[in-house]
Amino acid sequence: MKLWEGRFTQPSAKSADDFNQSLSFDYKLYWHDILASIAHAKMLGETQIIPKEEADKISDTLVNMLADIEKGNLPIEGSEDIHTFVENELTKRIGVIGKKLHTARSRNDQVATDMRLYVKDSIVNICGHIKALINTLLDIANNNVQYIMPGYTHMRRAQPISVAQYVNAYSEMFLRDLERFTDSYKRTDVMPLGSGALAGTDFPIDRRMTASLLSFSEISQNSLDAVSDRDFVAEYIFCCSTLMAHLSRFCEDLILYSSDEFGFIEISDSYSTGSSIMPQKKNPDIPELIRGKTGRVYGNLMGILTVIKGIPMTYNKDLQEDKEALFGAEETVLNCLGIFTELLQNISFDTRKMRLAANGGFSTATDIADYLVQKGMAFRDAHAVTGQIVRYCIENNKTLDRLDLFVYQSFSSLFDEEILQRVRPHKSVEARKVIGGSARSAVRENIRSITRRLNRMFKE
Ligand code: ARG
Repeated sequence: MKLWEGRFTQPSAKSADDFNQSLSFDYKLYWHDILASIAHAKMLGETQIIPKEEADKISDTLVNMLADIEKGNLPIEGSEDIHTFVENELTKRIGVIGKKLHTARSRNDQVATDMRLYVKDSIVNICGHIKALINTLLDIANNNVQYIMPGYTHMRRAQPISVAQYVNAYSEMFLRDLERFTDSYKRTDVMPLGSGALAGTDFPIDRRMTASLLSFSEISQNSLDAVSDRDFVAEYIFCCSTLMAHLSRFCEDLILYSSDEFGFIEISDSYSTGSSIMPQKKNPDIPELIRGKTGRVYGNLMGILTVIKGIPMTYNKDLQEDKEALFGAEETVLNCLGIFTELLQNISFDTRKMRLAANGGFSTATDIADYLVQKGMAFRDAHAVTGQIVRYCIENNKTLDRLDLFVYQSFSSLFDEEILQRVRPHKSVEARKVIGGSARSAVRENIRSITRRLNRMFKE
């Protein structure tokens, strides 16, 4: 049964019903819809807007319905949307009393409330998964503080770095993702219920009571805005998008670093795939898919932003389009976070290859320039002298750590034997003791700081 047939003289066309319906996707809101209805019913009883016994009957029946759905005994089907389904079933079970549940409420404030409840829970769930990912990264970092690898800019060897410092860089990104989700939670944690269809309600409801039953921290202050605002959905999908961007970058690294050309890491066979024609191949399908799926989440973000932009005051049916964008982004993010964390636990580093690569490419040239500056030369001159030394090495097929002292001294009399130490990659890494730098002490401090910030976030 529809909730709005009274005014109509003709039945609606099946095609129109099919087009209009949202049950095929908003069934996912059943838990939050029923919870919100229980809270609403209790409040209606407490405020004596409906008799207390009837309110109790409604909420008891809703609890039973929830249990039946969970057990698989109540299939969600045959209605326009989840709100209609719940009300129809309630009325089927307790007759006319069930029809009182919708007193002082509209589907407009109801669906906005359901969506906020859903997003709040989803944020908590996603944050738990990000935490697990960061903990995995912290383990990897802890085990790799002493190893070095080349750091790149423009995809060219730039300076040697610490493997743990590299891993920590991603932990920093995921910590920011956590912060973004946590911050958006505050704006989502506002209850629209009580806004009615758009203008509020003339029943003496107690919005604060309903909010506290549903664990909302705030209640909305403008009914027009409350029923038509979906900023929180856009924000949630933006948080998902940034998280996916970070996962995608990491995947890009893993794909490159596990190639024969780099050979820095090995993804275990259990998380790799083969080729149907080339027997020798071991392909990184999982990171490639995560990189690819990032596109869908961005698509969902563009989708919701575009839906929002043309909504005249107040509720318009366009807003029903918020759901698939939300559910799609959530599903992709959870899938990707899960498999990516598992994959990370199944990679190994070839620390020898990384060290050798860090030795090549003149990646300690900056250390030579810095050395000359410390001996009194202006940085621009030091840069030029070092450039000449690099050119000499290229022309004579040498590396910076294989040059004799007298060769260095032929470029500048400021060189003494200390330079032969300074150009060794692990010395270069160790010299960067600045906060955030590559030295072991700095990297260990970075690990501690990530752990601290992570724990603090989950204490609040
Ligand atoms: N399925 C609808 C949605 O998701 C529920 C709200 C319907 N409200 C209305 N005025 N038709 O937006």
